[in-house]
Amino acid sequence: MTAVLEMKKAPALEDYFGLSDAELNERIEAARKELGSRLVILGHHYQRDDVIYHADYTGDSFKLAQLAASRPDAEFIVFCGVHFMAESADILKPGEQKIILPDLGAGCSMADMASAEQVEDAWEQIAALGILKDFRVMPITYMNSTAAIKAFCGKNGGVVCTSSNAVPLFDKSLKEADKLFFFPDQHLGRNTGVKFGIPFDEMVVWDPFKELGGNTEEDLRACRLILWKGHCSVHGRFRPWHVDQVRAEVPGINVLVHPECVYEVVEKSDLNGSTEFIIKTLENAQSGSKWAIGTEINLVNRLIALHPDKHIQLLAPDLCMCATMFRIAPQNLAWSLESLIAGEVVNQITVPEDTVCWARIALDRMLAIK
Ligand code: 13P
Ligand code: SF4
Repeated sequence: MTAVLEMKKAPALEDYFGLSDAELNERIEAARKELGSRLVILGHHYQRDDVIYHADYTGDSFKLAQLAASRPDAEFIVFCGVHFMAESADILKPGEQKIILPDLGAGCSMADMASAEQVEDAWEQIAALGILKDFRVMPITYMNSTAAIKAFCGKNGGVVCTSSNAVPLFDKSLKEADKLFFFPDQHLGRNTGVKFGIPFDEMVVWDPFKELGGNTEEDLRACRLILWKGHCSVHGRFRPWHVDQVRAEVPGINVLVHPECVYEVVEKSDLNGSTEFIIKTLENAQSGSKWAIGTEINLVNRLIALHPDKHIQLLAPDLCMCATMFRIAPQNLAWSLESLIAGEVVNQITVPEDTVCWARIALDRMLAIK
């Protein structure tokens, strides 16, 4: 019998920090075996190797949202990712599953750049100008946002979007609405708008700390896209000169970036897309081909290890790491699993019922888009 099976009371997190990597690995695997089909571990592609190794499924935020909705048999979904992803799993869960985030500090700085109160306030400001009467304005929130903002979109005829479905979603939404109000990532919004030929003078940025977001009424009436002033600090580190530099240093290199990068980087790159798209592109790339990747370092390092027949490197020389994703560690993963075995659910993510109801509408609208 393993130590895990003999455990009587829920363990303390501190006890895990003295364990060796091998011991943690062994205990996580023993706990997975013990919990069997009661447990599903989901892992986002930015998770570190020593965590992603234990995931039953890996994916980008869209795929993980679908997966969370497709395992009614599992009692526990342990989400190795960040807070907004675990919230989305709680909203989409098909039954009574309990969603667990091994470290509650695993947030997303971009998601924190828009609060539901700020979004409501922005909406009221444009309503006060009569813009909501004169135009059909559709709110669209990136998956990287709180459940409350997703619920706001559900209530106001809007939808959720991820980096892997932004194009079909904009295609549909631009036909249905006069204007899109996109939060919180201005870069994904701008990069997608450009793909539809929307000129920059028809895009405005909404700064939540300024009256009318820092715009005039005329600007807001004339624009097609209102972009929330939010960004990802990890992808913000990639600069256009990195693309020039890598092209000069490695002739023939392909540049592939995530659309959370600034427009000037995306414009200079060869391809852009979600983490899943990046993985698929490299899987299908020819042996001997060369790639500079503009996304989080844990994923890039994994791709380098997976494809020794291709030249793959990070686009920037510095460390582009998502520190909050990194908070999910073998220690807190082992602790959360062994707590389940001891009968205690730790770090459960629970979205309030009324928020679930509206947020689900916005997420279901997204999942319905092919
Ligand atoms: P993906 O949906 O492409 O996995 O992106 C999520 C994310 O947080 C990227 O920073
Ligand atoms: Fe958020 Fe950026 Fe980390 Fe993605 S990489 S979870 S957007 S902070």
